[in-house]
Amino acid sequence: MSTKRIYSYQFHMVRGLILVVFISQFFACSVFESKNYKEGKTVFANKAMVVSAHPEATRVGIEVIENGGNAIDAMVAVHFALAVVYPSAGNIGGGGFMIYRPVDGEVASLDFREKAPLAAFEEMYQDENGEIIEGLSLAGPMASGVPGSVAGMIQAHGKYGSLPLKDLIAPAYKLADKGFPITEKQANNYNHYKTVFIAHNQDSTNIPLVRLDREWKEGDVLVQKDLAMTLKRIQEDGQDGFYKGETAALLVAEMKAGNGIIELEDLTKYKAKWRTPIVGDYRGVKVYSMGPPSSGGIALMQLLKMSAHFPLGDLGFHQAETIHLMTEMERRVYADRAEHLGDADFWEVPKDDLLDDGYLESRVRQINSTYATDSEEVLAMNFDHQESEETTHYSIVDSTGNAVSVTTTINSGYGSKVFVTGAGFLMNNEMDDFSSKPGVPNVYGLLGGKANAIQAEKRMLSAMTPTILEKEGKLFMVVGTPGGSTIITSVYQTILNVIDHDMNMAEAVSSGRIHHQWKPNFIFPEKDAIDEATKSILESMGHSIKERGNIGRVDAILVNAEGLLEGAGDPRGDDWAAGF
Ligand code: GLY
Repeated sequence: MSTKRIYSYQFHMVRGLILVVFISQFFACSVFESKNYKEGKTVFANKAMVVSAHPEATRVGIEVIENGGNAIDAMVAVHFALAVVYPSAGNIGGGGFMIYRPVDGEVASLDFREKAPLAAFEEMYQDENGEIIEGLSLAGPMASGVPGSVAGMIQAHGKYGSLPLKDLIAPAYKLADKGFPITEKQANNYNHYKTVFIAHNQDSTNIPLVRLDREWKEGDVLVQKDLAMTLKRIQEDGQDGFYKGETAALLVAEMKAGNGIIELEDLTKYKAKWRTPIVGDYRGVKVYSMGPPSSGGIALMQLLKMSAHFPLGDLGFHQAETIHLMTEMERRVYADRAEHLGDADFWEVPKDDLLDDGYLESRVRQINSTYATDSEEVLAMNFDHQESEETTHYSIVDSTGNAVSVTTTINSGYGSKVFVTGAGFLMNNEMDDFSSKPGVPNVYGLLGGKANAIQAEKRMLSAMTPTILEKEGKLFMVVGTPGGSTIITSVYQTILNVIDHDMNMAEAVSSGRIHHQWKPNFIFPEKDAIDEATKSILESMGHSIKERGNIGRVDAILVNAEGLLEGAGDPRGDDWAAGF
């Protein structure tokens, strides 16, 4: 072969190779191939199921399982995908909790909740007169705790994962780098937040969710190149790709630019923690949920154990007496929460006392069956607050029966509203979940005191309630929801709907919800959740009722009587199930 022909041959080979690499990069969905799964709001399947807040994230998860991944692999892939396609709550700049039930083995719970920075202190959101500085714990760099999501995913994967981490983050990288078409809800939401984002970010020309040329509309492709590079660094360096190196430097620079207090040491010190799950029994069904620093598991178990004293099924779904009893139980549980619950690493949580059968029976005995108890010193809190109760939940069962329930958050919608410049992700405003001052409610109207006071490195109290139920030793339900203070009561109602009111998963998820949290002293029903006659009876019993918007978005999986998995995505959102 002449030299000229060799050069020509090599040139064509190299060009061909570049073309193949380019085409595969551009068109391959991920390293995972889809074979055959069903998807929708409600899906019945034999083997595996994923339900999350966004169809793209759900598809990523089910494709991981189809390609041999287990529930934890799917969890990692879904979590990173949600950080891209569901930025109002999906995150790498926030935290959360996981309950994992392997098909054979111990149930585990992982706490990857954010921590107060080392420089945090009890009165940090108060002025020199001890008054709360309005908004400081809610927006801007000061509102953020040290993020835990990346550490949580990587620690869970290290213990239980089976596929390479790099491959599990690949779908999220692709979604960020190439973009994805946004839904109508997302377009409206980004347009709504445009001025807020501009007000809280340094460079208005480079805010991922802001279009300066025109409004967003449905179908626009959202490309997030900086976020893609952050994901690539995590793919390459694992936990260090976030908590050290370039990502950490960008995060600390963002903090410094806006009086934030998170330093490099906060990031390098962050570790997710394995915790003992809260375990209890409700009418013969075993319940596993999250312990402190979430209040979710203890509060849920208190509610269920008290409910076991009443024939709620016979009393009927959303009948006045049922709602009265639920309200009275909730009133007592949220009062306990405000007083006793906080990060158990910093505060002695009287867990055994709170869950003691005798104690709960005494609480039940206090309930008057015909008249409402007065929540003393009722606050005139307006529950129609401006901040949305974002947070997101996903439920997964893999083809061998391992199940995982994860709730994750940056707190209210879009967290602190601050994107880390150059790294493309939103930071949380989780510091507002602390009690900034005793007696002053947080954004969800929740009260707290010493148990949940701010301290360096402490985790702020959460209401997140990822939960797994087991019946006769077998998986029965995987459940959880967003919704701030309403998370606990939404999970509680979903469980009652199935166990006491014989609903299937879709009915249990979609039916109307009601909430009470001790203070403010209102029953908050969703619009049309209870009829006028029932409202009148409740009012005659001494209850005050204040209708409100949607409560929660439950994404759950039930193993039904036929042994099929029924996945249900909440109709209140874009939530989506997929299974095979
Ligand atoms: N940020 C809401 C919660 O953790 O409960």
